[in-house]
Formats: sequence, structure tokens, C-alpha cells
Amino acid sequence: MAELTEPVAAWLCSADGRATVTAATTDLDAGAEELALASRLRAGGLRPDRATAVLGAATARRRARDRWPDADELLFVPTGLEQASDPDVATWRARRLVAADATAGRPVWDLCAGLGADAMALAAAGADVTAVDLDPGRLRLLEHNAERRGLRIRTLEADALAVRPPPDALLHADPSRRTGGRRARRLAEHHPPVGELLAVHADAPGTGVVLSPAVDLDDPDLPEDAELEFVSVDGDLKESVVWLGEPRRYGVVASATLLPGGHHRSRGAARPSLEVRDLGTHLVEVAPAAVRARLHDQVGLEIGAGRVARRRALLTVDARPPVSPWYRVRPVLEILPARAKVVRRWLRQYPGVAVEIVVHGLAADPGQWWRELGRPPRGPQGLRVELIRTDDGARVAVTDVRPAPSATLPS
Ligand SMILES: C[S@@+](CC[C@H](N)C(=O)[O-])C[C@H]1O[C@@H](n2cnc3c(N)ncnc32)[C@H](O)[C@@H]1O
Repeated sequence: MAELTEPVAAWLCSADGRATVTAATTDLDAGAEELALASRLRAGGLRPDRATAVLGAATARRRARDRWPDADELLFVPTGLEQASDPDVATWRARRLVAADATAGRPVWDLCAGLGADAMALAAAGADVTAVDLDPGRLRLLEHNAERRGLRIRTLEADALAVRPPPDALLHADPSRRTGGRRARRLAEHHPPVGELLAVHADAPGTGVVLSPAVDLDDPDLPEDAELEFVSVDGDLKESVVWLGEPRRYGVVASATLLPGGHHRSRGAARPSLEVRDLGTHLVEVAPAAVRARLHDQVGLEIGAGRVARRRALLTVDARPPVSPWYRVRPVLEILPARAKVVRRWLRQYPGVAVEIVVHGLAADPGQWWRELGRPPRGPQGLRVELIRTDDGARVAVTDVRPAPSATLPS
């Protein structure tokens, strides 16, 4: 059942509803307890479904403030806010879709529009937006939010699989990505299923569908003429996007974008293959978005790197490469056999230095290793004991992630 019924959403958008949400937000800001506030709202004569909606809108508004500068003007439901696109990512995606056609006012249908972060970004980018969702309560809030921003968006309560946008409309869709708290790994696990969605709207001149970042380039529902783009924000992999038609870059099958910097790289069907090499002076960890797009060999080629193993994206080089958003580099202090006793003995020259144990492709238990290393202090800014499965068996590379000035081996 919808989190917010349409009548309650309509009340929430009324002057009375908005004033109640604002007052509740002020109370929470002043330190009121949520449970006590809910009781107070009901005791004041507010119906229980309205009291729940007010509390939800007030708590979500407070949570939204760091990402949505105008959050205090807007109305949310908590789950809708969780599912909403980050406003900066929505703006970046909208520009990519709408810039595919320079004509202002190009019709764009936003299927699965939710609270409207994407629909509003598309409208702000100049598109003539129709927002479609199954949830009428969310659509009412979307209308309210768009109006507060001075944007005109049509809404349509309908199934994305059943609507028929006009033939010149670009499509944007952001299907639900979680089932029972589990992140969707396949196109078929999104709601609505993305293979069906793409098949129903195959004639659209241009399409962008937002997916979980866990989907794979080999997914059977991914069309052959699609570009799959992996997007990270501040280093965290956030989403992938299937681009088809006009917004797809010619010949591109996979790409990666790093936000907020907007760094972008892509490849066609062919890709270079890096040689496997002995562990060198540095380990190079390629940005996850580039690894998911299978661009790590391309990145490695540019810096003269090799792979540490045939099936690993971890790279190794013999000289520190230039600083880049596409990878992180860690100097290797020592390469040791993967035996805890040997590593423990070696670590004795670094008493009190924090150690982090990282596993690359081995069935090793970091907790067990930590105990066998003599329970050294733990932390991410010291030495890393990296257990690596190479093609010649397991190895340990001890790398140095202590803050600059970079440490050297004790004399
Ligand atoms: C991830 S949310 C969309 C968030 C939205 N892009 C935003 O930024 O606020 C997914 C939305 O898809 C809607 N939905 C799920 N299945 C649908 C379908 N078959 N047709 C239309 N909407 C659907 C849900 O109601 C939900 O609001």
C-alpha cells in the first residue's frame, strides 16, 4: 500500500497541512521527541493518518536539508526521499538527456517519477515534462514541489508499462531498485522490470533509465545498442544508467562518470587487455565506476600498469603515476608470503602503527588474520596488509596509507 494516500497528500499540500509540517519541523529542530510530537499532534485533534504524514514530512525535510537547499519549502515522504535522486546527480543526468536535443521544450516523459527530483531537474533543464508514477500521493507532493520552484510539470497516475508517450518524447525512467531491502543486481529485478520497460518503449527516440550500480554489462536484458554508464559521487558508486537512441554516444557500450568533477571516459566493444605482472613498487586501485565499466585496462595502459592477476582489476606499477581521479595509488613496502607468522614478524618494526587487512579475491577471514597478526591496532590510515590472489598463488603486499609526509622504512 502507498505510504501516503492521495487525500492525505492533498491535505498536506494545503495551507493548513503545510503550516502543520512547518510547525512540526520547528519543534523537531528545537529538540522535541518524535513520539511525543506525534501524540501531541493527535491530542490536538489531528487525524492519525495526517499526524503520521506530518511527522514523516517533517523528519524527511530535516534529513533533506544538506542535499536540497530549498528543503524547507518542499514536502517529502521518508521512503520517497530515500529513493529520490540526489539533486546534483539528477541535474547532471537531465543535462545529458535533454542536451541530446538542443530544442528547449522538448517533451520528456519521466516514468517512475516519485517525488520528482528528476522531473524537476529535467524541467529546469528546459524540457516539457510529464511525470508518471503509480503512487498518487507522491505525485501530489511532486506537483507541490514543482510549483514551489516555479516549474510546470504535468503528472499522470499510471503504470509506466501501459503509458504511450508521444512519438517525439524522450524517456527518462528511475525504476525502484530494492526488493525486500536487497539491492537489484539484474535489470529484471527492478520495478517495473527494465527489459519489459525498454521493449514497450522501444520506439522512443532517446531513453535514459537509471539502474542499480550492481547491474552487469552482461545482463541478458541489456540491449546490444545500449551504452551502460556507471556513476560515482565523491568516490561512492551510486547508479548506472542505460542510454539508448539520441543520448547514447556513438559506438560507446560502456562509460564511467565521476561526480561532482564530471570526469568521464568510455569505450566501444573492443577493449585493451593488460598483461599480468609481478607486484611492483605501487598498487593502483582504479575507481569503482571505471572497474564496473571494464575500463580499468584502459586506465592501466595510460600509466604503464599491469594487472596483479588475470581476473583482478587491481593494478601494479613500478613508478608512482601522476595524481588522477581515476585511481588511488599505494606504495608497496614489502611483498611477503601469505603466512600470518611471517607478516607478524615483519610488522614488528612498526610498533603501534594501525593496520588494516584487505582481501583481494581470496577466501580469507580478515578477523582471523588480525588475531593471528597479534591484534595490532586497527585503522585505515596506517599500513595495509593486502592479501592478494595472484595467478601464482596468494601473496601479501604491505602498503603504506599513512598520511603525508609519506613514511619510509625505518633505518
Ligand atoms: C526510485 S523511485 C523514483 C524516484 C524519483 N526519480 C525521484 O528522484 O524522486 C521509483 C518510483 O517508481 C514508481 N513505480 C514503480 N513501479 C512503477 C510502474 N510500473 N509504473 C510507474 N511507476 C512505478 C514507484 O512508485 C516509485 O515512486
